[in-house]
Amino acid sequence: MTETFDGDWLALREPHDAAARSLDLAWQLNDRLPQRPRLLDLGAGSGSLFRFLAPLIARAQVWTFADADPDLLDRALDDTQDWAETMGWAVTAPGRAMLIHADTGTWRIETKRIDLAGGLSQLPLATVDAVLCSALLDIVSTDWIRRFAAILRVPLLACLNVDGRDSFLPPEPMDRIVLSGFRRDQGRDKGFGPALGSRAPSVLLTELAARGFTLRSQTSDWRIPASDMAILEDLVFSHADVARRQLPQRRAAIDAWEERRVDQIGRARLRIHIGHRDILALPNPI
Ligand SMILES: C[S@@+](CC[C@H](N)C(=O)[O-])C[C@H]1O[C@@H](n2cnc3c(N)ncnc32)[C@H](O)[C@@H]1O
Repeated sequence: MTETFDGDWLALREPHDAAARSLDLAWQLNDRLPQRPRLLDLGAGSGSLFRFLAPLIARAQVWTFADADPDLLDRALDDTQDWAETMGWAVTAPGRAMLIHADTGTWRIETKRIDLAGGLSQLPLATVDAVLCSALLDIVSTDWIRRFAAILRVPLLACLNVDGRDSFLPPEPMDRIVLSGFRRDQGRDKGFGPALGSRAPSVLLTELAARGFTLRSQTSDWRIPASDMAILEDLVFSHADVARRQLPQRRAAIDAWEERRVDQIGRARLRIHIGHRDILALPNPI
């Protein structure tokens, strides 16, 4: 069954995602793109990667947002329209596309409802100049990555792949238990078979290297400061929830951990660091 994601959670994380993604790899991708690039965003959610990357590409461009969740795709268009209008750009919607008349060119967005777990043959890979994704690959399986690598012929920019270098600061011994429950949950099947979780970057690098891609990888960590209480609370609650589900025998200790961490948030004493990697894969020769 397809895993669903809350649009408000995606909105909460958007500024942290934008601060974390590797600008260097985004520029390197941009250097390889044609004059009017066509881009496919897999698991586009509410469109946060577009709002990060389109201004950097800064010329006419065509995007397809692909996602299984029709509500998130609607929200992607609404949020992107609000964002564009805030930037002072006109937005029109002829036919099935949304057009943003930015000062650097016209940016066209179409949405495509697609279950990526169901079949890769539905992906319009032959008609795009690059494939993008952000915070997606931890939920797919090794088998899915293998099948995807076998049909990929264009550059891929895969942002924000969790790599397991997570820490609560200041650390305490119980973090290890909570994080072990969290990691167990990351491996749960989210519709693609056993999920890769923090193994996503290494599996992607291995499979694309075997297909002859040139690979570049950089860290893109979240560093959530003590002042950002809303996302800190969300992270503490979500870690405690999944740890309780995975380790029911440790429930009381996890409850106490959650209470301590929430208290620290209230006193601006907690910071959280979540490790990610961004990966740029370039087909050879291009
Ligand atoms: C963590 S969210 C990331 C969203 C967005 N890329 C971002 O960075 O904010 C994962 C996205 O994958 C989508 N997704 C999950 N399973 C899917 C599937 N089987 N097919 C297509 N999309 C899927 C979800 O709907 C969600 O939008």
